[in-house]
Amino acid sequence: MRTTVGIIGAGPAGLLLARLLHNADIDSVVLECRDRGYVERRQRAGLLEQGTVDVLRTAGVGGRMDREGLRHDGIELRFARRRHRVDLSALTGGSSVMVYAQTEVCKDLIELQLRQGGPLLFEAEALAVEGATTDRPVIRFRHGGREGVLECDYVVGCDGFRGVSRTAIPAGLSRVFERTYPFAWLGILADVPPSHDELVYARHERGFALLSMRSPAVSRLYLQVPAGTDAGEWSDEAIWDELARRLETADDWTLARGPITAKSVTPMRSHVHEPMRHGRLFLAGDAAHIVPLTGAKGLNLAVGDVVTFARALIHQRRTGSGERLEAYSETCLRRVWQAERFSYEMTTLLHRAPDATPFDERIQLARLERLTASRAAEADLADGYTGLPWE
Ligand code: APR
Ligand code: PHB
Repeated sequence: MRTTVGIIGAGPAGLLLARLLHNADIDSVVLECRDRGYVERRQRAGLLEQGTVDVLRTAGVGGRMDREGLRHDGIELRFARRRHRVDLSALTGGSSVMVYAQTEVCKDLIELQLRQGGPLLFEAEALAVEGATTDRPVIRFRHGGREGVLECDYVVGCDGFRGVSRTAIPAGLSRVFERTYPFAWLGILADVPPSHDELVYARHERGFALLSMRSPAVSRLYLQVPAGTDAGEWSDEAIWDELARRLETADDWTLARGPITAKSVTPMRSHVHEPMRHGRLFLAGDAAHIVPLTGAKGLNLAVGDVVTFARALIHQRRTGSGERLEAYSETCLRRVWQAERFSYEMTTLLHRAPDATPFDERIQLARLERLTASRAAEADLADGYTGLPWE
């Protein structure tokens, strides 16, 4: 098999890249080790930046998102039982975010790719990337019990944090920057209308809580829990009680409860692999970087990477110049580090670290007070929340 761009992984990064290339008449093959049902059921975050929304629309995959997604112009911060609304649109000159689950984005991209696009092979596991620094890199893979070789002009590793593509970059050329947080998020889906019409981020002495949603009838909520927690340790009742405690306000707001339909724990970590390119192998999305869930930047970063790659390849085809492809890693990393900074700041602003001293707690509250008192501080948060800079 031969193709122009061999893509490993059918998460949002790989799927969107295949779509962008198809729209530019560049052929690609996507290899995904899991089956379609697994990819479509996987629960992830659900918050799209303005720039991501625009990219999906332009790529021709925004129809259902525009019908079913929920546009949000603000968020609420809660601390010391007080509520403070951050008016995202007013602070940013009109930017908003879209609440639309990542799993729905993937479903839309898969449906379109299978209907009109290059091959998208499920249960096709990439085993290794070879020849990254030659003109003909190859992906060795296994599909339907047989091993095959996909010859490519370029390989893009969109295979997530546990993928194989990163390992094709020699250790001597790689640098990893990481931070593991001593807490995780216990996330639930519940069949109950969200108790507030915007997302609520709560800082509480017992730990962080987030009220989010998937639709007008389905709530998505999260609780900070110690790292290594097993979701089975928490009964439904204990989850609702703890959410109610952490989200409690001094006014008459109450949390509506309903049947919990899914429960899982996500670790919190920051991780960046540099560089993001080695010869003709490019890393995109979680294959190159992880952010903690706070602020939901993961999907948006993945979109930034694949847009950068697609534009660079289109530029190379039109002008013959490979300079943008060569600059891929530096270009992406500028945005990646801004997202790492934003996610780190939002995480440390709202979570209770197990080793926090009383001094740390006062500083955290002072940071929150500052946000409610300074338009400049609030505008900086709104800016990072609705969108990171694009080049
Ligand atoms: N061969 C083929 N496919 C693979 C392999 C392999 N060896 N290893 C992993 N994959 C697949 C996984 O099964 C998964 O479907 O690669 C895909 C990677 O998808 P994601 O993990 O969703 O990563 P990405 O597309 O970069 O999306 C980033 O997803 O993890 C969230 O929070 C993250 O929102 C962010 C977004
Ligand atoms: C989500 O709905 O999954 C979500 C929303 C906002 C975040 C994180 C996760 O900051």
